[in-house]
Amino acid sequence: MFNSRLVVDPSDGTSKSFSVPVVQELAYQNLHSLPERYIRSEKERPNNSIPYQSDIPIIDMDMFLRDSDLCRQKELEKLGAACQQWGFFQVVNHGIPLSLLERMKGIFREFIQLPLEEKLKYKVQESEGYGQMFVASDDQTLDWADVLYLATLPPENRKMNFWPTKPRDFRETLDRYAVEIQKLDNTVLSLLSENLGLKPDCFINIFGKMSLSTRMNYYPPCPRPDLVLGLSPHSDATGLTVLLQDDETVGLHICKDGEWIPVQPIPGALVINIGDMLEVISNGIFNSIEHRAVTNMDSDRISIAMFCAPSGETEVGPAPELIDELHPCKYRKFIRQEYMQHYFSSRLDGKGSLEFAKIKS
Ligand code: OGA
Ligand code: NI
Repeated sequence: MFNSRLVVDPSDGTSKSFSVPVVQELAYQNLHSLPERYIRSEKERPNNSIPYQSDIPIIDMDMFLRDSDLCRQKELEKLGAACQQWGFFQVVNHGIPLSLLERMKGIFREFIQLPLEEKLKYKVQESEGYGQMFVASDDQTLDWADVLYLATLPPENRKMNFWPTKPRDFRETLDRYAVEIQKLDNTVLSLLSENLGLKPDCFINIFGKMSLSTRMNYYPPCPRPDLVLGLSPHSDATGLTVLLQDDETVGLHICKDGEWIPVQPIPGALVINIGDMLEVISNGIFNSIEHRAVTNMDSDRISIAMFCAPSGETEVGPAPELIDELHPCKYRKFIRQEYMQHYFSSRLDGKGSLEFAKIKS
């Protein structure tokens, strides 16, 4: 049941291997007490009593197809405000068939239910595959989740040895879903450019040849959800993230004004958030917000995050049109691949990764 993870230390180039259990196996063992390695410090524990106040904005994609300029303009302003104030929103009427969303969740659920030996054929290596990501040391507190991470688009990025062959339609469904999500990413990127008064293709051009990757998260039930986290607080290193999640079970929390707010799932909707790359490209106008996932006692939960980002060799920096005397450049330019190396080699650490690119004033 152990899954080893090789980590290269960027400071000296040495590699270390850390063994971590498959959480699903632990969860179904009738645990008497929770293993020490999952227990969070007092201040990291989820406070499950947060009063439910307000929810992240809901954007109706239909409004952008209407003839009425007024409807469109209002929705565009709402979208821009959502990305500035929340960094997160949900989209409805996105045009992706519900049957495809359901099957996407279905293929991952069926994969999760396969015998362990079958799943371990896809064991994580160099940040791709099945297991746990971001295990950077032997004494680090672990997340209560198992993950399947796959480079997805363009097709030449795929490492097919990590793509499950069971269930039989796994590969084909993921492929179809990725094409739909890429279209949605392009639409949102052009709307966001427009919202800032830029040419609609401004952000898409900075992204260059866009790459998509998929992170499927499985959060087994946990006997002590008050002591653990399903996913440590982090911001996404990529440009835009589209999250498909279970309809029934709340798990995603976002950090707004220092408070953790649970996101209520809307059946058929998708959650979209701004990642670090888009914060940089927008010169800090749009916010890449810290978020985390919590677990619960009675039910498991799955979520499928699809990350879209500029390709690895792209030089990323703020759009020149957004910089002037009143709006000084806040981030230095860097190659996206360097950022990913920096991100993957550190343990998920809130928004710490973006310090890499911040220009200190
Ligand atoms: C992620 C993520 C949230 C969730 O995979 O980056 O933030 O609810 N997931 O699983
Ligand atoms: Ni995330």
